Order: sequence, then structure tokens, then C-alpha cells
Amino acid sequence: MKLPYAESYKIKMIERIHRSTKEERLNWIKEAKYNLFNLKSEHVFVDLLTDSGTGSMSDKQWSEMMIGDESYAGASSYYKLKNAIKEILGFDYFLPTHQGRAAENVLFSVLVKEGNVIPGNSHFDTTKGHIEFRKAKSVDCTIDEAFDTTINHPFKGNVNLEKLENVLKEHKDNVPFITMTITNNNAGGQPVSLKNLREVRALADKYNKIVVFDSARFAENAYFIKTREEEFKDMSIKEIVTEIFKNADAMTMSSKKDAIVNMGGFIGMRSKKLFQEASVFNIMFEGFITYGGMSGRDMNALAQGLYEGTEFDVLESRIEQVAFLGKKLVEYGIPVQQPFGGHAIFVDAKRFLPNLPKEEYIAQTLAIELYIEGGVRGVEIGTLLADRDPETRINRYPKLELLRLAIPRRTYTNNHMEYVAAALGNVYARRNEIKHGLKIVSEAPIMRHFTVEMDKI
Ligand code: F0G
Repeated sequence: MKLPYAESYKIKMIERIHRSTKEERLNWIKEAKYNLFNLKSEHVFVDLLTDSGTGSMSDKQWSEMMIGDESYAGASSYYKLKNAIKEILGFDYFLPTHQGRAAENVLFSVLVKEGNVIPGNSHFDTTKGHIEFRKAKSVDCTIDEAFDTTINHPFKGNVNLEKLENVLKEHKDNVPFITMTITNNNAGGQPVSLKNLREVRALADKYNKIVVFDSARFAENAYFIKTREEEFKDMSIKEIVTEIFKNADAMTMSSKKDAIVNMGGFIGMRSKKLFQEASVFNIMFEGFITYGGMSGRDMNALAQGLYEGTEFDVLESRIEQVAFLGKKLVEYGIPVQQPFGGHAIFVDAKRFLPNLPKEEYIAQTLAIELYIEGGVRGVEIGTLLADRDPETRINRYPKLELLRLAIPRRTYTNNHMEYVAAALGNVYARRNEIKHGLKIVSEAPIMRHFTVEMDKI
């Protein structure tokens, strides 16, 4: 008999979490204006808001924290991280930043000009935010299959090459770069195949464009390439990662995901010229080029995290736990994005609550119901997140209304997953009683979902 997977770690330190009553949660969520970001974390039992910066570091990472070099310039921790980035990702130049969006801010300050068009697979919200803030536009060229949660396509993160080539033809010199998000978070934590990455590279070469990878979950993407793309099944994760990044000229990284640290990011670059130009903005926004927004100890833990995060066993434990939750939800009959994502399960809120109109924030309504039911915090990936069109100020209605249940790395047990599934199962059983959604009371002009205030209809 083939043995099942089991976690490739054991627990050395724990943190207490607390249950609450439904009555308490009804009050807390009302006080929070039906915005899950406004809740105190102590009012959450299982927190699946994000897998970003919420993972558990290993004993080796904590050991590295103790020997960080806090010199302002030229710290050994900087060189440790520089070596890890060169060894694992292959970039000669890098700049540390305090997190992923800071890397975007610095790099886009060099690359993005007003009126530019930046095509790619679904841009993450901060990526899109930094593009739109500069009065440029992002064009999502993800394959159509990604927007149908019932289709079981192994690489729903892929771009449609025809869509991409059309943008390149139409906007020519106005396209400063192509961006690829690996894995494609907004499409459901879905991977991009190595074949697709290579084809994008070939198109970029044809049109003389550079390619930037948004690499937050590159290691999970590599795991899916190994397990789903026949040609690469015998390669190690580290070999696949090398193959992936051969296709990029630069990368932005939120280290809070696959590098399993609580804070940190960086930019990887091949071009010395780009590095020099970006350095000016890094110094202005983040800090000197050998620390950016990071302390020495954090750079040490990040270097160690890059090595650990690209081990097969570490990735298997993680992705199998996500799949465990996915399978439980399917057993309850709950509609979820298929196949299961790398870092999260995405519940199809439109199919869960088919009678709610799109104007009533379907996925947000479901997220609130799940919190009230079991103290479980997920996050809306739907109309709130899609925001208004910057020019017309009209609400954009995305094809999918998703409730994302993102699982922190090495943090919860499968018992917690059973609990989450049972809570959502209860909401599913009473779904016909949910007749009204939510309305917005106040919102910010950009990235409104973080601070929006809502009320029940
Ligand atoms: N790119 C992707 C694909 C992301 O998922 C994120 C963050 C970022 C960039 C920005 O990085 O948070 O370090 O500034 N995603 C988190 C999430 C917030 O919950 O998915 P950051």
C-alpha cells in the first residue's frame, strides 16, 4: 500500500487561539462594519485571511535570526541573501524591500509610464494598483478556462498567447514589459506551465520586450510543474525553479509566501542598468541597497526560507493540506475552483449563493456568513477587490466571485481544516435562508477592500 503523505515537520512551539460564541461574533462583525480586515485577530478562531506572512518559521530560520548582521552597509546577511538568490533563482542583481508591493513600487518607478499597457496573467491587486496609480493599464490575458470553476485544467494560471500577442501588436512601444504571476493568485492559486512560460518568453523576444515574474508563490508553481507536467516529473524542485527563471529578465518577490518569513521582499534583475536605476528608488523608498526595508536577521531567515521553501517535502506537506480542505468541502457539496489551488481553496460564491444579485457583494456576504458560523476568516476575491474603473468610477464586476480560504504554511493542523469544512458545510445547508447581501457605506478611492465600511441590506 502506498503510504499517505504526512507533514515533514513536528511542532516545537504553540500559540493559543480561542473559540467564541455566535452571539459574540454577530456583535464583533457588526462593529467591524462587515469588513473582515477590521476584526481583531483575537476574535478569529481559524484565520485563513491570507497565507502571507502568517506561516511558521523553522528552528533553522529562528537560529538564523540570532546571527543576523545589523550593519547599515555591506552586512554579511545581505551577502547571505544575495548568494541564496543567485543560487536558487539565478539573478546577479537584487534589491531587498520590505515586502512584495514595495518591490513593485521600486521596479515600476523605473519601468511604468503614464499611458503604458502591461499585459500578463491576472495581475495581483497591488500590482494592478501600482500600475493604475501611474495612470497605466493592466490587461489580463489569462486563458478562458480559468474563469470556469468547473473545468479541471492543470494550468489555469496560463496566459492565452493569442490574447497576449494581440496586446503586443496593438500597443507596440507602449508596452514596457510583460508580467507573469506564478502562481496566478487571483485565478485561484493556479499554476503556469513551464511550456507556457517558455512560449511567453519567445513572444517577448519576438516583440523585444522584457518579462517580469511576480514570484510570490514560485515554489508552489514549481511543485505543480513537477507533479502535472509530464516532461519535468524527474527534475528536482530546485532544477525546475532554475528552468522557470531562465524565462524572466526580472522578478518581484513577496517573501511572506513561499520563502516562509513574516515580512520581506526583493527584486531580482539580470540587467546592471536596471539595477542601477532601481537602486535610486530603493534608497528613496526603502533604505540603502544592502538592506532595503529589511533588518539583517530578517534577511538571514529569508535566505534560509528560500532553501527550505524549495524542498519537495516542504511543498508536498503544504499543498496536500490545501487539497485536504478542498476534498472535505467537495464532500459537503460545496462548489470550489477545480483543481485546488496551491495556497488556498477558492469557493465559487456565485454557485454557492445563486439567488443573490451581483450588486450585493456575493463573495463578501459568504465570507461574513462563514465568520459568523464558525469564527473562520477568509477573504473576498470578487467585486469589492475588483474595485471601480479608475476612469468611469463604475463598479467592475469580475467573472468570478470567490471566497478565498488561504492556508498559512506549517501553522494549522488537518483538524482545523475539518473544522473549517464543517463550518462552511453548515452555511451551505442553510444557504437558501441567505436572501440579502451587503451594501457599501463608505470606501477609499483605490484598494477599497481593506478599509471599506458595509452594512446589511
Ligand atoms: N503578488 C502576489 C501574487 C501576491 O499574492 C501578493 C500579496 C503581492 C504580490 C504583494 O505582496 O503583500 O508582500 O506586499 N498577496 C497577499 C495575499 C496579500 O493575501 O494574497 P506583499
